[in-house]
Amino acid sequence: MMWRWQHWMVVLLVTVAAVSGNNYEGLAGHQIWSLESELAVELVDQLQAQGLLDVVAHTERTRTVRVTPEFASLVQKELHGAGHNYSVKVEDLAKHLQKEKDEKTRQIHRAESCTATSCPFPLTYSYMTFQQMEWYLKELAKNPWVEVRSIGRSILDRDIWMVHIKSGECKGRKELYPNRCRRRASSKPMAVWLEGGIHAREWISPAVTLQLIHQITKDCCVTQDLDVYVVPMANPDGYVYSWTTDRFWRKNRRSNSGSTCDGVDLNRNWDYHFGVGASDEPCSQVYKGTKAFSEPETQALRDAMLQVASKGNLKLMIAFHSYGQVLMYPWGWTADKAPDQQDMVRLGKSFVMKAKSNYGTHYRVINAANDFYFASGSTDDWSKGVLKTKYVYTLELRDEGGHGFDLPATKILPNSMEVLAGLKAVFRKIISKKRTTNTVVL
Ligand code: ARG
Ligand code: ZN
Repeated sequence: MMWRWQHWMVVLLVTVAAVSGNNYEGLAGHQIWSLESELAVELVDQLQAQGLLDVVAHTERTRTVRVTPEFASLVQKELHGAGHNYSVKVEDLAKHLQKEKDEKTRQIHRAESCTATSCPFPLTYSYMTFQQMEWYLKELAKNPWVEVRSIGRSILDRDIWMVHIKSGECKGRKELYPNRCRRRASSKPMAVWLEGGIHAREWISPAVTLQLIHQITKDCCVTQDLDVYVVPMANPDGYVYSWTTDRFWRKNRRSNSGSTCDGVDLNRNWDYHFGVGASDEPCSQVYKGTKAFSEPETQALRDAMLQVASKGNLKLMIAFHSYGQVLMYPWGWTADKAPDQQDMVRLGKSFVMKAKSNYGTHYRVINAANDFYFASGSTDDWSKGVLKTKYVYTLELRDEGGHGFDLPATKILPNSMEVLAGLKAVFRKIISKKRTTNTVVL
């Protein structure tokens, strides 16, 4: 998700840098107000045009605004005069941001004090640092039915980890689940590929994919006939940078020659109709890079996917992003129909139905180019166009714009569980489809 709703923090970070160097002094006394009435929208936009406030986030019917101490009482008078109420979300922005930053620093330190035998894995209740993820994956690899492999290194030399949850008869897990699962098909298992964390600031993406790994490795029924491959953190450098420096960093950390701006959008760097709906300007959020697959991260993903696909059974690819609660099917580069569109829509709908059953969260099945925005060089188009994967999606996780990229960590578990429910339905469907096909062939 890009600029469908501006995110207020993006605006603020720029302001902060401009006003006060490295601390938040310039924002002392600034407040964040939220207006939830459709009727207030017009007035708020007028006040913004007069320079009295900043709209820092919005949906169609709501506005979140930043108000400076200078204009606070004036804006209040205008709003109340017109009969609009607001709630104060942040009393003092400087203190608020400082507090968030301190908490992050504390968590980084906590993670750094991990030892080989003890390390907290706050999989469900807080976002994990990259280091915590690596510790978790190391522990995970101790299960004989899981392989954790580095498929390459990022531009700053961090590992890109792939988790393979192997198909089979509950190897090693039999005692835990006696007679619970029965293998359904006798022929070659299918493979699915899940990609998380290609965009640094979309923290819920690696959090959900890690939680999926956690759940799927515990439940051997899911993987009876399925090889599940997951890359939970495709852009480690960007992710680390979003912890240490800029919470809303999106791209990788390539230093672009001839420009003061860093980073390539890894989801515009794949070699399939490279360049449509992407930018050649290094300062752009959607900078595509000097050429297709110019980045070590996309190269690593490509090579690992090619390897999985070469076994001939890659059936499903999902790239996890945030936010917006939509399940998108290709193409992203053209408004034309992709092969298997009908099947992708149908399977997508069974995801949506199941995902809704836990907490009522609604996801929409839409077409990437026609219903979202044109963008090429993404994992999804490449997977569809080059690998010819039958079912390909980009899933924008929670929420619908209220918190945006900065989704509270309390949502990690519910978001993961509803996605797991949806995925299980999808897995079941593709496996039973295969059975039918086999019967016909046999
Ligand atoms: N949020 C994703 C991005 O901007 C959406 C990608 C959808 N896929 C596409 N090929 N347009 O990268
Ligand atoms: Zn994204």
